[in-house]
Amino acid sequence: MRKQILVRVVMLTALLFWLEVTTTSLAQTTGAQTPTAQLSSDLKQKLAELNKALAGRENEPAEKVFKNIQLLKGMPASRLLRVMENGYGKSLGVDCTHCHIADAWEKDDKPAKQITREMVAMTQAINGTHLKAIKNLKSATPVVNCTTCHRGQVKPATSLP
Ligand code: HEC
Ligand code: HEC
Repeated sequence: MRKQILVRVVMLTALLFWLEVTTTSLAQTTGAQTPTAQLSSDLKQKLAELNKALAGRENEPAEKVFKNIQLLKGMPASRLLRVMENGYGKSLGVDCTHCHIADAWEKDDKPAKQITREMVAMTQAINGTHLKAIKNLKSATPVVNCTTCHRGQVKPATSLP
């Protein structure tokens, strides 16, 4: 009887040890892939200035407040800035300067900015047309977004690491 209990205790300890090892190594692998889209203090400052300049106009449509909005029309201006930081930047693992020259935000001088507009259109087509046409999916409203493909990288992976 005692021997049986001892065997169980040993097995349980081994199981717990195995679980801990696998979960820590899992955490490390996912940790290594976590996007590092931290803004430099300089860009943080610029973002803070952009937000400050919006004071009182936060909820006006982006196209009224900014100079060259072709796509995100109707989006509240303050939300546009959050999309820049948390949506586009984080999902690609880049900071503002991947798509902009800082302080010339309205210019279309970096290809990535125009590509982004086309990527948004592609994502909308996938969600609005292609996913909708697939029957028997688990979600009632299945979606993909930038993170689904990019996962913190500029060039989405085509094979597992
Ligand atoms: C992956 C590309 C991408 C990243 C990263 C990005 N932006 Fe943008 N940004 C865009 C696009 C595209 C537009 C234009 C949207 C449209 O046409 O509706 C835009 C528009 C803007 C505008 C409006 C400019 C105007 O007057 O028309 C501001 C301000 C801006 N971005 C600031 C930022 C800041 C600050 C960051 C970093 C926190 C940032 N963006 C990161 C792609 C990006
Ligand atoms: C269905 C998958 C998919 C989705 C969803 C997607 N992308 Fe992409 N994206 C790609 C692929 C594939 C490339 C091309 C990479 C290469 O150059 O081979 C790419 C390239 C890009 C580039 C150019 C990268 C560079 O070299 O500067 C930008 C910018 C970009 N995507 C932004 C976005 C944004 C923003 C979103 C969300 C609105 C988005 N993408 C959604 C698959 C996707």
